[in-house]
Amino acid sequence: MSEPILRVEGISKTYAPRGLFKGAGLRPALASASFELSKGEILGVVGESGSGKTTLARCVALLERPDAGRIVFKGEELTALSEGVLRKRRRGIQTVFQDPYASLNPRQKIGDVLGEVMLVHGLATREALRDRVAALLDQVGLPATAADAYPKAFSGGQRQRICIARALAAQPDILIADEPVSSLDVSVQAQVINLILDLRDRLGLSVIFIGHDLQLIDFIAPRVLVMLNGEIVETIPADGSIADARHEYTRALMQAVPKLETITG
Ligand SMILES: Nc1ncnc2c1ncn2[C@@H]1O[C@H](COP(=O)(O)OP(=O)(O)O)[C@@H](O)[C@H]1O
Ligand SMILES: [Mg+2]
Repeated sequence: MSEPILRVEGISKTYAPRGLFKGAGLRPALASASFELSKGEILGVVGESGSGKTTLARCVALLERPDAGRIVFKGEELTALSEGVLRKRRRGIQTVFQDPYASLNPRQKIGDVLGEVMLVHGLATREALRDRVAALLDQVGLPATAADAYPKAFSGGQRQRICIARALAAQPDILIADEPVSSLDVSVQAQVINLILDLRDRLGLSVIFIGHDLQLIDFIAPRVLVMLNGEIVETIPADGSIADARHEYTRALMQAVPKLETITG
């Protein structure tokens, strides 16, 4: 195993209370989570709804700051950086979320969505932009003509490909995929999963793949973190099997899940 590209040390997050119950015994959404990620590794994260998976994703990507703990990315402590410096570093850790419909602005052409990311980060010149957008689209299995269309022209699976292309436009080292196929038809789930695995192979990306289906996540990721109530309660090692899981909850997750996602819409 190579030197970890990411080290997460005891990060916690408690959301400010909403409504009447201010200060009333808040439970953290994320409680002292620690793990490492190697270059090119696919790390799985699994847990029931509300277990803190999305909070983990958002904190690791520094879309929000954890209340405590450290995130060290390529040897630099992101959690110690000022907002200004952090803005530049965020490029390296990109996220794809569950709902590709909500993630895309309906009034923005796909080519502009992708081009904007590259321009903002200074990764392409205006002259080269069209070719670079076409190359990105090709990388996710979409035709160059997709650049001129709006999100509504695409199916759920295609929109998720576009969201993946947008993440790749930033040339990240790490891709966090937060339930990327949970809102898709079963028939296209495997294609999107295979795309992510393929990108890992071709680009050497490190991937954090989040889901609620333990069997699926175990199939995708050699090493799997199991979350419950904001805590990582078990790590299934790369050379281990979910059949040997120690935690009762992990075994329950194994049994409770129907064939691929049929629950989340
Ligand atoms: N923005 C927020 N404000 C308040 N509570 C939140 C917010 N986001 C998540 N939570 C709470 O944090 C806990 C973990 O949520 P989340 O990370 O979304 O879990 P998961 O992704 O595993 O379903 C839940 O109890 C949820 O209600
Ligand atoms: Mg979630």
